Amino acid sequence: MAYEFSGPRKIVAGEGSITSVPNEVRSLKGTKPLIVTDAGIASTGLLRRLTSLLDEERIPCAIFSEVEPDPGIAIVEKGKSVFLENRCDFLIALGGGSSIDAAKVISALATNEGNVRDYLGIVIFKNDPVPIIAIPTTAGTGSEVTQNAIVTDKDQKLKLFIRSSQLLPKTAILDPTLLNSLPPGVIANTGMDAFIHAVESFFSLRSNLFTQQLSLSAVRLIYPSLIPFKENPKDTELASRMLHGSCLAGIAFTNAGLGAMHALGHPIGSHYHLPHGLSCALFLRQVLTENKEVASGKYGVLLETMGMSTQGLSAERSAGKLIEAVDAFVRKLGMPTSLGAMGIKHEVQPMMIEDAIKSPGLIANPKKFDREKIVELLKSAS
Ligand SMILES: [Fe+2]
Repeated sequence: MAYEFSGPRKIVAGEGSITSVPNEVRSLKGTKPLIVTDAGIASTGLLRRLTSLLDEERIPCAIFSEVEPDPGIAIVEKGKSVFLENRCDFLIALGGGSSIDAAKVISALATNEGNVRDYLGIVIFKNDPVPIIAIPTTAGTGSEVTQNAIVTDKDQKLKLFIRSSQLLPKTAILDPTLLNSLPPGVIANTGMDAFIHAVESFFSLRSNLFTQQLSLSAVRLIYPSLIPFKENPKDTELASRMLHGSCLAGIAFTNAGLGAMHALGHPIGSHYHLPHGLSCALFLRQVLTENKEVASGKYGVLLETMGMSTQGLSAERSAGKLIEAVDAFVRKLGMPTSLGAMGIKHEVQPMMIEDAIKSPGLIANPKKFDREKIVELLKSAS
């Protein structure tokens, strides 16, 4: 089948690659960036490291450090105002997916009329968004190489998706030394998100030979590295493998799409304010169990990629072995596998069902689910 593939614009990687920021600024012909980050990053010294690099090269900057987890509409609107008030001409996103996604939306709102709600779904912006240099400080979302941004409608507890090739950052800087003070819980949740990106993009109906190889490469890097990295966050080699894995998974899923784990995980995450990777992982076992009916041939490939033999196993038994391995992976990471285990009394709300049904993940998922099945799957997170 014919397909299109879009790659990232530019990746600068390696230990200390954050020092390339001034060069990247010059090559983008930028004069004054707005740094978009969160209060946590601002307090760790990472922000100071970035501003020192800019100071040394006499590049003025402004700072917006108010990004919250799952940034809301008000925060990106405020970021846009700070950008315009300070007469900035490009953005540097320093942080996890929330900061990079917020920067993407700010970049588009800064040059286009209207508000977030005017640009939902697949969008072509009339005016080019301002350029972004994206510097991830977690190995999770892959947002530094994707065309997507998610903003949360905090009142309605809804995720709003924006997708545009114009949102792709101009440069992604993958510096593993920026990850060495991450708390273990953040490593587990963000790393699981990256693992699920690799798995869901591999199974996606929109996947192709190109994206499938990227997805498998991501699994090959993430699966053996995530648990050791959680135990040794200062191990730069492990951090590098995780950053490369999450980036490869990002390139895969921005082309191939995701699946039902994300479609179901988003409304649960929004409603109960859970970390994104954790809420998607609640559906890992159930969705893999459902999908094996229609995609059993892929399970053995994934199992082999994770370093386990399929010799003598039927497709059915390979699928069963993979599901058990993935389940054990989640448990070894110390992640809860149900809402009950987190003390959350779960009731499926109508809004959760509508939110899941509208998600593009359900279109790309290999098995089709009707409304009744979606309710059943949402309930299964209890
Ligand atoms: Fe995700």
